Amino acid sequence: MLKDLSLRKCAEEDLDFVHDLSIFSMKEFVDRHWGGWSEELFWADIDKINITILEQSGKRVGFFDTVNEGDMMRLRNIQVEQSLQGQGAGKYMMEKIIDEAQKLKMAKIILRVFVDNPAVGFYERLGFGVVEKEGGSLVMEWVVESDLEIDYVGATEEDENVIRDIIEILAGDNTNFDIDRFIVAKDGDRIVGCARTKIVGDNCLELASVGVLPAYQGLGIGSRLLQEILAKEKQRPIYLLTGAQHENFYNQKVGAEIIAPEKLPCAFRKEYERVIGVFLGNKTEVIAMVIK
Ligand SMILES: CC(C)(COP(=O)(O)OP(=O)(O)OC[C@H]1O[C@@H](n2cnc3c(N)ncnc32)[C@H](O)[C@@H]1OP(=O)(O)O)[C@@H](O)C(=O)NCCC(=O)NCCS
Repeated sequence: MLKDLSLRKCAEEDLDFVHDLSIFSMKEFVDRHWGGWSEELFWADIDKINITILEQSGKRVGFFDTVNEGDMMRLRNIQVEQSLQGQGAGKYMMEKIIDEAQKLKMAKIILRVFVDNPAVGFYERLGFGVVEKEGGSLVMEWVVESDLEIDYVGATEEDENVIRDIIEILAGDNTNFDIDRFIVAKDGDRIVGCARTKIVGDNCLELASVGVLPAYQGLGIGSRLLQEILAKEKQRPIYLLTGAQHENFYNQKVGAEIIAPEKLPCAFRKEYERVIGVFLGNKTEVIAMVIK
């Protein structure tokens, strides 16, 4: 982690820095997707009021640009000088952005990113999920907590029985139970939801046992559990099995896509067949999806 980082408001004389860094990091993508960089558009679109400058030991090294639209904070841009990328500066800024969104009681933070920008990985790492694909761009969002004070924490051994109960109520996957891989959503002391990644075979990863108690459904807790799990888990791809009715949820929240059973890795195909067997009786159509 870089030392001596600080943030301050953007002044008029910082705008050339913002411009030059934007050209350096974004021109290549704008040229490719939008057919060319326009100086006119850049200057028409920029407003120092929305920009925060990142400094290291008093020297400008990055910035972010946010604008509030109703109960939604739009992250228009976040950039770090190339020589300092990958050392925690982006995360430092994002933590401040999330703090601010929480303080202002925003419902979510939303952003748009070119599909081929490696920054997609950065956003995923910090818990953003893909909600829409539009041409060459992805819309990603981070759901901020509602009035409910839900905590998202790693499960401990004491939580095991409650988690098993929740999974049972929701007819989820109790096999290969490893408490250390669970994240739980807690309302005070009460566990109201859970999710985990499960290792299948040697090294195949499955998103499993995702569930929220009925009284707490529809409040964004499930999406947030997925965000937390994906932020913690670096390995990709991650596979998942679910009822066909949940396809849109997983697609919109974490960009999961349907994968044909014959394309599944061998160990996971066995898991797929096992689950199909379990659900055969109640006519649920099981689909396999992959998060790349
Ligand atoms: C995107 C950007 C702001 C990220 O800032 P950064 O300082 O490089 O990122 P950090 O070092 O803070 O990374 C934070 C976490 O994200 C991960 N991460 C960063 N870039 C990643 C990537 N491309 N793919 C996957 N994970 C990534 C890091 O490994 C780190 O994980 P950790 O907490 O487990 O260590 C920066 O790389 C950048 O300025 N890129 C060019 C401009 C740009 O494209 N901006 C986005 C416009 S939409």
